Amino acid sequence: MFVLQALEGEKQKVYPEILAQFKALLEGEQDFIANMANSASLLYHLLRDVNWVGFYLYKDDQLILGPFNGKPACVRIAIGKGVCGTTAANRETIVVPDVHAFPGHIACDAASQSEIVIPMIKDGQLIGVLDIDSPITQRFDEVDQQYLEKAVAYLLVHSHIG
Ligand code: SME
Repeated sequence: MFVLQALEGEKQKVYPEILAQFKALLEGEQDFIANMANSASLLYHLLRDVNWVGFYLYKDDQLILGPFNGKPACVRIAIGKGVCGTTAANRETIVVPDVHAFPGHIACDAASQSEIVIPMIKDGQLIGVLDIDSPITQRFDEVDQQYLEKAVAYLLVHSHIG
């Protein structure tokens, strides 16, 4: 049984605890879909002020919706389009303080105001992206980027992909 509650406090103090819970959750399991599903749920419940956490997977030269928590979302995103497609094309995390100021942002949930998208790269191959949305502006910064990139790296190393 899991008792999950958004953790209060400074990001720098909260993230090590989130990462510890993240690693414990994935411990001993290598199934990629199961690990993505549990990762999305854990981050959705532990991070404050988020309304969507999920994965898009690179398939048939596009991104296709994977495991997530939040409202139903757009299924297919072209590489280079929106925040997710741009992240996939550039293979670098994008922090968007205000989604309305991001050219080509794809609005799935009208509540979303800011966003962070982390690329998933394994052995030089694009696997997909982790996308997190917030209902407030400027929710994400370099601290989020630092720890969420660690979480994604752990997920990729500890999952069997392909
Ligand atoms: N906003 C994303 C689309 C995915 S939803 O936020 C879940 C984008 O611009 O790529």
